[in-house]
Amino acid sequence: MNLAKKQKTLFFVNFKNINIYNILTLFMTPTVFIGLMVIQYFQQYMTVNELLMAISVGLLLGVLLRIEIHNQPNWYSQETITFSFLGSGMLLIMFAIQAIDIDLPIIFYMTPIAAFSILIKYFINERFALISSVMMAVFGSFLFIATDFGMWQLFIYLLLSQWFAVFMFESIKDRKTLLKTSTSLLSVHFVLIVIFELRTWSTWTMMSSDFILSLVFSMVSVLFAVILTLGILPLIEAGFNMLTESKLLSLSNPNHPLLRKVLVEAPGTYQHSVMVANLSESACESIGANGLLARVAAYYHDVGKALKPHMFIENQSGHNPHDSLPPEDSARIILQHPYDSAQLLKEYGLPQEIIDIAEQHHGTTLLKYFYYKAKERNSKVQESTFRYKGPIPQTKEAAIINICDSVEAAVRSKTQPTNEEIKQIVRSIINDRLMDGQFNDSDLTIHEVLTIEKNICDMLNGIFHARIEYPKDNMMHLMPGGH
Ligand SMILES: [Fe+2]
Ligand SMILES: [Fe+2]
Repeated sequence: MNLAKKQKTLFFVNFKNINIYNILTLFMTPTVFIGLMVIQYFQQYMTVNELLMAISVGLLLGVLLRIEIHNQPNWYSQETITFSFLGSGMLLIMFAIQAIDIDLPIIFYMTPIAAFSILIKYFINERFALISSVMMAVFGSFLFIATDFGMWQLFIYLLLSQWFAVFMFESIKDRKTLLKTSTSLLSVHFVLIVIFELRTWSTWTMMSSDFILSLVFSMVSVLFAVILTLGILPLIEAGFNMLTESKLLSLSNPNHPLLRKVLVEAPGTYQHSVMVANLSESACESIGANGLLARVAAYYHDVGKALKPHMFIENQSGHNPHDSLPPEDSARIILQHPYDSAQLLKEYGLPQEIIDIAEQHHGTTLLKYFYYKAKERNSKVQESTFRYKGPIPQTKEAAIINICDSVEAAVRSKTQPTNEEIKQIVRSIINDRLMDGQFNDSDLTIHEVLTIEKNICDMLNGIFHARIEYPKDNMMHLMPGGH
């Protein structure tokens, strides 16, 4: 729902996520490019016309880049800094390579430009990696202008090298992917070099020193790209505290001390969180949101309950301490748990995105049970004292966890709900949240809400129908110990 989301913007700069420091870093790559072009002009490697063209291209691409960044979902300052750092770094590497030997045109085959697009894909996303690759290929073509290699050839080589790297590099989960990326990158480079050499094809071309040297340079570039990727990746990850796939995977390990604490002290909450994680990951993936982030955030969303586990129904067996408490006191304890979770997560150094989701997972919803219980005793009771403090979910992942959290709690008590019952529970929870304005800041569209609803229903139907009851008498003898 985009209805209530109006933020102050100036030249596409969203002040919510971007400060003056970010604006400066944002324009760093085009500025570095223009600076390097001016240096090349003074070194007399380019004409004044070429310099003016390069400056115009730099400015134009800078503006287009700004527009593209404006459309990026969940863009934080870390992404801006990472992009500027990688972009400027790659420009300086290319500048240094062409400076090695300006009279050797094929020196540009050594450029490890694939590392730039792999790292952008890893830290930002695939779409942005593909788009920024075009910019880097254009900048690279200008940087090697003095080498007398055809500009179109330079552009095609630099672009295809990056695009293949983006397509082949899938995930850091499996280190083999880097090997796969390198071999396919090497093949692409070889094919391009052969095509470029076809212009002057003759039997001896194959053996010419230029041709052999080109192949060697392209091999060096792939090796250089792999070393850069592996070397820079952990630096950025740690330096900017970025939430990456490998960090999320390490946080999903059940041996994490915080998850162990929940498992031991609040086993009911642990089970609930695992279930919410399964539902939200699948729902997120159905609309293209970050499923892994949702899974991990769901594991941690209720850790605050471990401070007072028996105050929460999923950890109670028989005795309910709320029976002997006034509803105001019960509400105070329960309403506090998202903030206790956030506090614990902060203490354990979890990423901000996970802390935010924990804080937002109940939005500003009303604790109906205790509100009506209090109202029975005192009709003047304030509704606001029975609402969570919020904020309401700020991202799609947070909104989905908000839905799945309530859905899980509602279906938990049912032993064998029908498909129709499941559908009704899910729909009424979603409608309730929509009417209450809980998703106003989450960027979800109506179409996405419907997709999420269907996905959750399908998941629950699958889970409940998979629970096939064993015929007791016949199965007894199969159990270990015979009973
Ligand atoms: Fe909760
Ligand atoms: Fe929960």
